[in-house]
Amino acid sequence: MNTIECIKSRASVRNFRPDKIPDAVINEILEAAINAPSAGNVQDWEFVVVGRQDAKGRLAEAAWGQDFISQAPVVIVVCSNLRNIANAYGERGTGLYSIQDAAAATQNILLAAREKGIGSCWVGSFNEQKVRDIVVLPGHVRPLALVPLGYPIAEPRKTGRRNLQEVVHRDFY
Ligand SMILES: Cc1cc2nc3c(=O)[nH]c(=O)nc-3n(C[C@H](O)[C@H](O)[C@H](O)COP(=O)(O)O)c2cc1C
Repeated sequence: MNTIECIKSRASVRNFRPDKIPDAVINEILEAAINAPSAGNVQDWEFVVVGRQDAKGRLAEAAWGQDFISQAPVVIVVCSNLRNIANAYGERGTGLYSIQDAAAATQNILLAAREKGIGSCWVGSFNEQKVRDIVVLPGHVRPLALVPLGYPIAEPRKTGRRNLQEVVHRDFY
């Protein structure tokens, strides 16, 4: 699958088969994550790979009852190490780059998963403190996204997009 095909065919998956994802495949997906760009190449991202059923259930609760999270065989908690990014960039680092770096890594996870036939969904709606408690994050590590991963029950359905003319401005807004 080429890159454009992968990008265009990706869609959020919220129904997973229970089949385990081989560790080697999870590692390849994480390798894709760490190949994302980051501000000053600080690579402030850190990942917690959650496979325990009780923890996944608690993550689903922390995400306001989004139960599909607990059905996924694996949930990756994408985090930023705020201490590292603050050391390099101060407030701009903690307030902006940490989010952008984690977002770039998260998108790579979704695309690598797609290429491997694994479904994923970017989950941003969750109670941060609860997620912190569940995966035991230190204070300087902020959870920014949850990504449940699993083989999809059905081929994901594409959602619509605003057309280019509506969103692209040439020379001036
Ligand atoms: C920052 C962000 C937060 C999101 N949070 C959630 C979420 O909490 N739950 C969920 O089911 N989907 C979530 N999504 C997925 C979006 O709903 C989805 O990407 C969007 O509807 C477009 O559909 P597609 O991913 O199938 O292209 C989130 C996506 C992004 C980028």
